[in-house]
Amino acid sequence: MYIARTIAELREHLGAYRRPAFVPTMGNLHDGHLDLVRRAKPLGDATVVSIFVNRLQFLPHEDFDTYPRTWDSDCEKLRATGCDVLFAPDEKALYPEPQTCKVHPDPVLANILEGHFRPGFFIGVCTVVMKLFSCVQPATALFGKKDYQQLMIIRHMVRQFALPIEIVGVETLRATDGLALSSRNGYLSETERAESVQLSKALQAMAEAVRSGERDLQAVETRAMEALGKRGWQPDYLVLRRRSDLQAPSPGDPLVALAAARLGATRLIDNLEIDTQS
Ligand code: PAF
Repeated sequence: MYIARTIAELREHLGAYRRPAFVPTMGNLHDGHLDLVRRAKPLGDATVVSIFVNRLQFLPHEDFDTYPRTWDSDCEKLRATGCDVLFAPDEKALYPEPQTCKVHPDPVLANILEGHFRPGFFIGVCTVVMKLFSCVQPATALFGKKDYQQLMIIRHMVRQFALPIEIVGVETLRATDGLALSSRNGYLSETERAESVQLSKALQAMAEAVRSGERDLQAVETRAMEALGKRGWQPDYLVLRRRSDLQAPSPGDPLVALAAARLGATRLIDNLEIDTQS
């Protein structure tokens, strides 16, 4: 595995390849990331992963400083998974001057849900992803569906800027009890880890209510919020949205349930596409 620390090193090395398949990450890699890397392998002539904890997408009170940085084990895992090129710039290498030119995604998509609770988050995400795309120039890039809104916003950005990149969304990997894999799961205490499965259970209960014909979607959302609240969670949202654009659904629209909630000091997100046919 070749490790590039600067944009120049990356470009020089990637000059030999025509169709890189790219997985951007912030490190602290788990099986969900490695699944993306495995799926990237057959899609390009080089598998490129980036590790960069992007300050631009953290609010001042968030966990930028304490975000887990696990370089040695990340490198080991990537080598074992067959990553060809790891791009791991430091802040000076990726942002040599203050990044005042930023990508502002469509506010209709980006100012709701995560964007409402984490203002500016998607500006930070789109700016770094655009910059990483410019460095790697991939033919394909893979993103997990766990960050459902992020995936949708990146697809939209790629379409609007006519970037010649195929975006592949990959199903969320879960622990055996159903908890969606996430780097932030490592923050959970043992008791919180046992409780954390309730988030995916809440989404399943919402899906079940819809499948069994419940029409009052707001009542389903309120019940889910209250149920988690009673268990000691602080939910930001548990909502049923139209899958195509995450707006309020009309009858018959394919739905996705999305959730974000705090358990102790840890904020978890998850989502579930609801298949009304099954
Ligand atoms: O999903 C993530 O890990 C990050 O938001 C990303 C896409 C690597 C950008 O920093």
